[in-house]
Formats: sequence, C-alpha cells, structure tokens
Amino acid sequence: MNAPLRLGIAGLGTVGIGVVKIVRQHRALLAARTGRDISITAVSARDANKDRGVSLSAYAWEDDPVALATRDDVDVYVELMGGTDGPAKASVEAAIAAGKDVVTANKAMLAIHGQALAEAAEAAGVSLRYEAAVAGGIPVIKALTEGLAGNDIKRIVGVMNGSCNYILTRMESAGLSYAEVFAEADALGYLEADPQLDVGGIDAAHKLAILSSIAFGTRVDFDGIELEGIERVSIDDIRHADDMGFKIKLLGVAQRTGRGLEQRMMPCLVPATSPMGQLQGGTNMVAIEGDAVEQIVLRGPGAGEGPTASAVMGDVSDIARGVRLPVFGQPAATLDTAERASAVLPAPYYLRMALVDKPGALAKIATLLGDAGVSIDRMRQYEHSDASAPVLIVTHKTTRADLDVAISAMKTTDVVLSDPVVLRIESV
Ligand code: NAP
Ligand code: HSE
Repeated sequence: MNAPLRLGIAGLGTVGIGVVKIVRQHRALLAARTGRDISITAVSARDANKDRGVSLSAYAWEDDPVALATRDDVDVYVELMGGTDGPAKASVEAAIAAGKDVVTANKAMLAIHGQALAEAAEAAGVSLRYEAAVAGGIPVIKALTEGLAGNDIKRIVGVMNGSCNYILTRMESAGLSYAEVFAEADALGYLEADPQLDVGGIDAAHKLAILSSIAFGTRVDFDGIELEGIERVSIDDIRHADDMGFKIKLLGVAQRTGRGLEQRMMPCLVPATSPMGQLQGGTNMVAIEGDAVEQIVLRGPGAGEGPTASAVMGDVSDIARGVRLPVFGQPAATLDTAERASAVLPAPYYLRMALVDKPGALAKIATLLGDAGVSIDRMRQYEHSDASAPVLIVTHKTTRADLDVAISAMKTTDVVLSDPVVLRIESV
C-alpha cells in the first residue's frame, strides 16, 4: 500500500459532514480502490463547539482555514465552506501556494475566480478538483473532461438547480403560487442562505459557466450568461403551458453559434413528455451533445449530504490514485476568451398577454407579429371575468430580436393591458 492520503476539511456543514461520514464508513473500500489509506487529520469551521452529529475529536481543530490548508500533515485541502471570496478563496490560494491538492464544491468561487485559480494550480503542479460544484452527485465534470474528451461538444442543456425545479414542480402539483411555494421551500431549508442565488438563477448560472469552460475550451465567463430567474413564473403560465403540452423549467443552455458562444439560464418551456419535462423535485439533469457521441443524458440528485459528498470523494479518490488533469480539461493558459453571442438562434416562443376584450384587439396583435416576420403556430383565448381576455400564442421559430420588435409595438397599442410574458420553447 502507498503512503496514506491525509485530508484537511474546512466546512463541516451539510457537505463537510457527509465527507467525514464517507471517509469513516468506506475506509476499507476506498483503500482497496485507490491503494491508499484515506484519512482526515484536521478540520475547520466557525464554531468549534457545535454538535454536528458525529464525533470530531480524532481530528486536529483549526479556527483558521488558511492555517488548515497549509498544515504539514495535510496532503489534500478540501474546501466546503462556500462563498465567492473570503476564507474560501484565501484558503484555496494558500493551499495551492503550499503545494497541496485541492478539492472544492464551491461553484460560486470557481465561476468568478476559476481561471486565476486554475492557472495557479497548474503552475504549482497541484490538482484543483470540483465535481461536487455542478449538479451535486452527478459526475458531469468527469463525463465532460474525460469520457467525452474525443468529442467536439455542440450543446449542453440542463436543469442544474434542484431548489428551482422543486418550486416549479410543487407549484404545479399543489396548484400554489410562486410566493406560497417559495415560503414553503424556505421553511423546509431547501434554499441557499441567500435564496436569490437559487431563484434568481445565479447558482445554476455558476454551474453552467463551469461546464461551458470545459465543453468549449473557453475561460469561465459567468458575466456572459443571459440570466433570468424564476420569480416571474406564475401558476397561470404553468397551467397554460401544461395545457399546450409543455412544462416550465429553469433551463441552462450553452452552445456554439456562428457568432460565438451562447450561454443562457432562464425559464423555458420544454415538451411535457421529454425526460427534462418529466423531471420532478430537486433532481438535476444534464444533456450533452457531441459530434461523435450524439447525446448523453445524466440524471441524479443535485444536492444533499450524501450525493454531494459522493462527488467530493470521487475527486479525492482520483487524487489518491495519482490522476492529474488540467482543471478545465485543457491547460488553463490555452483557454480562449469566449466570444459572447446572445440568443441568436431562432426558436419557437410562448407569449401570454391580457388583451382588452373588444373587436379587433386580437387582429391588431396578429398583424404586429406578422409585420415583424413572426409567424403564429397556435393561439388560444381563455375565459375572462372582466374586460380583459387572456391570450396565449405559440410562435413558429423566430429570433428573439424579431419578437422584441413586435412586443415593443404591442406596448404602444391600446389593446395590451400588461407586459406580455415571453418564454422560449427549447427542444431537449
Ligand atoms: P453549510 O451547510 O452552510 O456549511 C458551511 C460550513 O462552512 C459550516 O460548517 C460553517 O461553519 C463553515 N464556514 C462558513 N464560513 C466559515 C469561515 N469563515 N471559517 C470557517 N468555516 C466556515 O454549507 P454546505 O451546504 O455544506 O455547502 C458547502 C459548499 O458546498 C458550498 O460551496 C456549496 O455551494 C457547495 N454545495 C453544496 C451542496 C449542498 O447540497 N448543500 C451541493 C453542491 C455544492 P459552522 O458550521 O461552524 O457555521
Ligand atoms: N441550491 C443548490 C440547488 C444546491 O438547489 O441545486 C446544490 O448546488
């Protein structure tokens, strides 16, 4: 057996304690698979006296994660505190500078500082691994970096935030409003400490930015993502979409276009019968399309103690085996700067609007769409109880630019009573 691999773990919350449990429960299994004994030497968190449900007395305690990261008896620094900057970034930088391999689950840090950290890790000759940062227990980083290395990746599509998928599917199943389900999810502890990270689409966009970098050989470009959260999705839209054969998902899409890299994270309609459409609760799903493989679909738990710790331990096991890979699939210095392209590829769109209930109103809207070159596929008008008529339109494939011309014109008429809801319909 080779020399033992000694872990220092900073962050003893949901994920950190999950890792402690796996290291203890599967010590023999991990040793058999990696050829090394994997043990924990030291840990860190904010409160040394908190009862965490497992005894930590066998491990040295460090109040300061930077001190933990640079201890002589730590080979791999495991950062599970979270946060874009602060102690997470400082301690990861310190670990790299001290020649330690690093494993983290911190997508927020990688989405913003991934390039600099990758360059530092590669210059220092250490690993920086982060399987747990994207889609929890699903080994999507490994699939993209290793298993699909022989493919020119065309497109990545995915549901990557379990909390949002929980909210959207619960709204539908219980017939509750966004506000009601948001309050419920918050009370159940399903949302991040800052819920805006979830419902604003930011957490999922962090994950998409990381996947894009590996898939397209570009520097992580979080700011290049067109971002919209789920706060404006109404129970009416969920019902109407369902009526037309669609489900609403917070969908991440990254693809190469003739004009550059398109990255977006926003609520979209997907066919109700598609695997993505049928995804319930906190489950994540990522579809990857490559020229050789065509399409693979990965599905699994996107969060939680066991699934996320499972991903962390996959990385630790690779390090124990001596597997060393470029952080984003190719040397960080060779990654291109992404040329940003907004949603230029045409798609069908769903529009919902309230129209004045008087002769000619619908005709006016249809004319404005036609004038902008937007063709109507389907249209429905629903029952109305006052002077307004809810109208749904599904367009044929069109560009967002053409659609925006029509919508701007609609707003200047006297027949549209509120800003139309516009959702892209994505083929998945
Ligand atoms: P958590 O339950 O809130 O735990 C965070 C831990 O970090 C706590 O033990 C906390 O200490 C410690 N900590 C926070 N600030 C610290 C500081 N300044 N110095 C030392 N320790 C500090 O978080 P989590 O859910 O385990 O998430 C950890 C990381 O995994 C995050 O990057 C998150 O985005 C990522 N992640 C989480 C999941 C998930 O399902 N939870 C899934 C994928 C990725 P105290 O306990 O003493 O307060
Ligand atoms: N808040 C995240 C989610 C946690 O709901 O998916 C896992 O990254």
